[in-house]
Amino acid sequence: MICLGIESTCDETSISVVNDRFEILSNVIYSQVDLHSPFGGVFPELAAREHLEKIGPCFLEALKKANISFDQINLISVAYGPGLIGSIQVGLTFAKSLSLLLNVPFVAVNHVHAHLIAPILNHKDAFEQLPAIGIVLSGGHTQINLMHSLMDIETVGSTIDDAMGECFDKCAKICGLPYPGGPHVEKTAMKGDSSKVHLKSCKVKDRPFSFSFSGLKTQVLYASKNQNKGYEDLLASFQHVVFQDVLEKAQKAVDFYDAKAIFIGGGVASSKTLRSYFEDFCRPVYFPSKELALDNAAMIAALGILQFNQLGPSPIEIEPKSRIPFTTNQVV
Ligand code: KG4
Ligand code: ZN
Repeated sequence: MICLGIESTCDETSISVVNDRFEILSNVIYSQVDLHSPFGGVFPELAAREHLEKIGPCFLEALKKANISFDQINLISVAYGPGLIGSIQVGLTFAKSLSLLLNVPFVAVNHVHAHLIAPILNHKDAFEQLPAIGIVLSGGHTQINLMHSLMDIETVGSTIDDAMGECFDKCAKICGLPYPGGPHVEKTAMKGDSSKVHLKSCKVKDRPFSFSFSGLKTQVLYASKNQNKGYEDLLASFQHVVFQDVLEKAQKAVDFYDAKAIFIGGGVASSKTLRSYFEDFCRPVYFPSKELALDNAAMIAALGILQFNQLGPSPIEIEPKSRIPFTTNQVV
């Protein structure tokens, strides 16, 4: 079976071809970063228009790179949320039209769920390591989940305010770094000493696996006013506090649920520094490659195959959703 994956939930237009052995035949990603960077964040109206312009060429390039023709596509998988409604609408409409035109089934999948299962594309042994703790750290989501299986997921903790990537982006902005801030924070922090500035992570009362970042962001804002020699030490301390927080919560969750492994996905999971925090972890830790940690359609195709095999096609009437809790995902 050959599955075409389509991703357009935020600021990447991506189309990928993946087979049912979870081998990636192509994964084309058109990033809109340069378009949105001057605004310091994603400008929704511009994002939707750019998706419209790029989705056709992206599709043709994905087929060409995979060396397949239209009639070899057996399944179409698209992210129907969570994300920006106008942007999702572009990918969803494209997917529905293609499904009707080619007369192949169509599945609508949850983008956050796709981030969680992305590591299976790099690590085939991960299939055997369930139940696992699944952690999503992206620009819009920060969650700790219990993955009973790749399709049966229960959220056990999440952020009560900002997402982790969003917090990196805001702290980068405070320090005059461009959007998206994560990679710039990582680069700047490498030159700093995390013990020079004292920052504290925030705990959420009675929710051991949840996160809160707004207090930390405020600490960074105040501390930034005293940094007259650059922001290296401040950002090193910020990054350390955030990653130590994830590491401790991941450890607690693995112990509490007796999980066999950890799956980590989402844009922040592309950080080399975060990976180093998990180097000596007591269980296998599955990170996707950098390209598959950021928004991409290969993870959408992979989840499409899993979901189609278990639940069959999705109704063609399905609408874009800005939020999708995991319980909803299981009935799509
Ligand atoms: O998953 P993603 O590509 O898009 C969403 O679905 O949100 O994640 C983007 C987020 C941005 O907030 C970006 O700053 C963050 O991932 N990010 C990083 C790093 N690379 C990207 N955060 C920390 N360190 C990084 N190296
Ligand atoms: Zn994402």
